[in-house]
Amino acid sequence: MKRKNYDLILRKHGEDILDSERYKSTKGYIQHGNVSVFEHSVSVAKCALMLNDKLKVKCNERNLIRGALLHDYFLYDWHDKDCKENIHPNLHGFYHPGIALKNANRDFNLNIIEQEIIKKHMWPLTVIPPLCREAWIVSLADKYTSLLETIRIRKGKGKMYNYA
Ligand SMILES: [Fe+2]
Ligand SMILES: [Fe+2]
Repeated sequence: MKRKNYDLILRKHGEDILDSERYKSTKGYIQHGNVSVFEHSVSVAKCALMLNDKLKVKCNERNLIRGALLHDYFLYDWHDKDCKENIHPNLHGFYHPGIALKNANRDFNLNIIEQEIIKKHMWPLTVIPPLCREAWIVSLADKYTSLLETIRIRKGKGKMYNYA
């Protein structure tokens, strides 16, 4: 089977998001080590596409990409305890999906699947499990990507890897 070009699919469905100034500001926020929120979110979107293909889940690719790109759209430095947007610095894991969802709804038109992806990506912290396959796949892709990012940081290699 011919390998899909995940970069092209990402552009096709996420161009307005990737090119918006506010989204680009996530390049200035660190997720882990030297990986920015922007790079992390793009990696999660590509990983979600890969898992969807490998596991043959038949997710809607557009919803998967848009939800994945915006899953960490909380727009502050979560490591900075003095930052005023970081209202619960020790509980970032619990609160940031709600903040990301609020920001995403303000800046983009999202359908209910895309909103569910953002809302539930931290499951099991969210207690109520994801209600659609797209949200399950992004939650899994986020954990897998974060693990790879952390392992590579530990090894002193930083980013990147490529799913395409
Ligand atoms: Fe997150
Ligand atoms: Fe994430």
